[in-house]
Amino acid sequence: MTARKLAFFFVFAGGCSDVAGWSGTPDMWPGQDCMACHSAGGLASGRQWTVAGTVFPAPDAPPDAGVANAEVLVTDANGTALTLLTNSAGNFYTAETLQPPIHVEVQYGGKRMRMAEPPPATGPGGTAVSCNACHVLPPPQVPPVANFLPAPGRIFVPIESDGGSE
Ligand code: HEC
Ligand code: HEC
Repeated sequence: MTARKLAFFFVFAGGCSDVAGWSGTPDMWPGQDCMACHSAGGLASGRQWTVAGTVFPAPDAPPDAGVANAEVLVTDANGTALTLLTNSAGNFYTAETLQPPIHVEVQYGGKRMRMAEPPPATGPGGTAVSCNACHVLPPPQVPPVANFLPAPGRIFVPIESDGGSE
């Protein structure tokens, strides 16, 4: 049992996938709750993002499937508009000061996905909006933030598969 757990951990932590994990680089930990570390009191409190997360091709995609060059469109209550381009891991982040409520949309390849409700101003633990705290697998059974619905999985933009109709 212990051996199986260890084996799983080894694979997850750096075996055969492209997930950067503990790298301290912009492609680190795609799909994970960035603000667990990038917030006051976190391991990376020197770099506190105000919005951060990862874009995937499907709500149930594996962590190494992040979509590069997707545009995350953020508009805050003052009309400040940011376009965050996802990196090779699908990660996006900003430390820009934003006035809640914010509106978020993700755009890629002519498709646009919009979050109907503005996300809460603060995530679990009082951090700034941590998109992956809600958009996580497996989907949380109870909302990670009071009075908000659990997200239906990853943030995603549907990707056209080669060869056509589905
Ligand atoms: C387990 C803790 C942890 C998690 C989770 C985490 N990070 Fe990091 N991150 C760090 C540490 C530690 C560093 C390196 C020290 C620093 O830059 O403050 C770092 C560095 C970075 C850097 C590099 C900053 C630079 O200037 O080089 C970026 C960008 C970044 N993280 C983005 C993210 C994103 C996006 C997520 C979520 C998808 C994330 N991190 C999740 C701990 C974490
Ligand atoms: C409190 C939990 C929560 C947080 C935090 C959250 N979301 Fe969502 N998100 C949801 C729920 C629930 C839905 C589905 C209902 C809806 O659209 O409002 C959703 C839907 C979406 C969608 C449309 C479906 C999809 O996956 O493409 C996008 C895009 C999205 N969110 C992006 C984001 C971004 C970007 C952030 C961070 C700025 C974020 N979300 C933060 C709960 C959350």
